[in-house]
Amino acid sequence: MTKRIYIKTFGCQMNDYDSERMYRIMEREGWRRVPKADEADVIIINTCSVRDKAEHKAVSEVGAMKRVKRKNSKCITVLAGCVAQQHGEKLLKRAPNLDLVLGTHALSKLPELIQECLDGKRLAQTDWDYDHLFEGSGYPNVNPDGRLSWKGSLASGFISIVHGCDMRCSYCIVPTVRGREISRPMGDILSEARHLADSGIKEITLLGQIVNRYGRDLKLPSAFHELLVEVLKIKAIKKLSFASSHPNYITPDIIKLIGHEARLAAHVHLPVQSGSDRILKSMRRGYTIRKYIETVVRLREARPGLSISSDLIVGYPGESEEDFQGTCDLIKELEFDSLFAFKYSVRPGTPAQNMEETVSPEEKAARLKIIHEISAPIILRKNKALVGKTLEVIVHGFHERDGKYFGRSSCNRVVHFSADNMQIGDTVLAVIDTGLANSLLGSIVTT
Ligand code: 5AD
Ligand code: SF4
Repeated sequence: MTKRIYIKTFGCQMNDYDSERMYRIMEREGWRRVPKADEADVIIINTCSVRDKAEHKAVSEVGAMKRVKRKNSKCITVLAGCVAQQHGEKLLKRAPNLDLVLGTHALSKLPELIQECLDGKRLAQTDWDYDHLFEGSGYPNVNPDGRLSWKGSLASGFISIVHGCDMRCSYCIVPTVRGREISRPMGDILSEARHLADSGIKEITLLGQIVNRYGRDLKLPSAFHELLVEVLKIKAIKKLSFASSHPNYITPDIIKLIGHEARLAAHVHLPVQSGSDRILKSMRRGYTIRKYIETVVRLREARPGLSISSDLIVGYPGESEEDFQGTCDLIKELEFDSLFAFKYSVRPGTPAQNMEETVSPEEKAARLKIIHEISAPIILRKNKALVGKTLEVIVHGFHERDGKYFGRSSCNRVVHFSADNMQIGDTVLAVIDTGLANSLLGSIVTT
């Protein structure tokens, strides 16, 4: 039989990484990736359950795959990731065209489970397996021309360094669906980083649900700092980022390193979640607004031009007008360089599951709109303030549509510019001409 596999990914960068792992695990067994579900013999929907909307989108995608089965009756449909872990076997009843439910700890078993499906079984595998969590981690695929391909880009790659989460933020499903926090051995991470560098990758992002808690499960509280120092010894890596961080684990030595190491990105994603101490306490975030602000100020003092992005939730149970006002005030005070705001969505199995919802869906939508109205002009103004500045940009790709190259600056801005004969992964200096809502336009500085 032909062995063609297609994976559709929802959710966070960790899911992108896991999808790449699944491709690699299957490619070792002779499978070949194809760009469309309709061409595949195995379709994997890698799902996210962080909010109910994400969950529904993923489950309805499984339904949409019936069309492929109608044409190719042997096609195997797999639902993987966080929704799989959350609902397990029940999904097989809900979706008759589904063959396999693959939990977050079962990725390494994928080939044998697919074989069982090919033999006619329908299965759900959601056991916790802490011994093979990083199996198949490794290196992005090498194209026939010997260069790396990672989501169509050759410039940047991810490395997962810690799996799961031991915090119990009241609203969050991640500990339920990804399990206990496990740090990957530093040697494995470094060999993956070296391989990426040897293969032409210039930009690495270290990933974890709370990336800066790396090592805490091993009782090594300074391991994250040590890891950053070690990865930075690989000189071919021009830019090192990490996501997502928790403010309580941004230690003074990390701040110092961000201040001294130009190759550490001038950007930190630091979810705040709310601008009200009362709500933060109920969310069990473990910090006050004052402490959060102090951390941001120290980071910005250490590295001029550092950009801070954040996540926040509106309409958490009990969020009053005054609490919401606190969130608005915080955005105005800290002027985030980019911001992701979400309507609270109750998640099964979370500590907040039984808390009474006090903010109506309409009010949540109204609050989200206000957040956007406050933050968008700030972000635009900050982008415009970069006009005339020279930024170092790593080239990520080329848009046919406008004939321009694009790349990312150290401060995490997407920069578009015209140039001749750039290679993906090149570093260029660009003077910023225009600041837009979500990106910058620049001109290359010729040296
Ligand atoms: N409802 C809404 N947003 C959520 N997030 C996490 N859990 C929920 C939830 N139950 C948001 C947080 C987190 C981001 C990834 O998703 O802001 O930082
Ligand atoms: Fe979604 Fe969280 Fe799972 Fe990532 S870890 S896919 S954000 S539920």
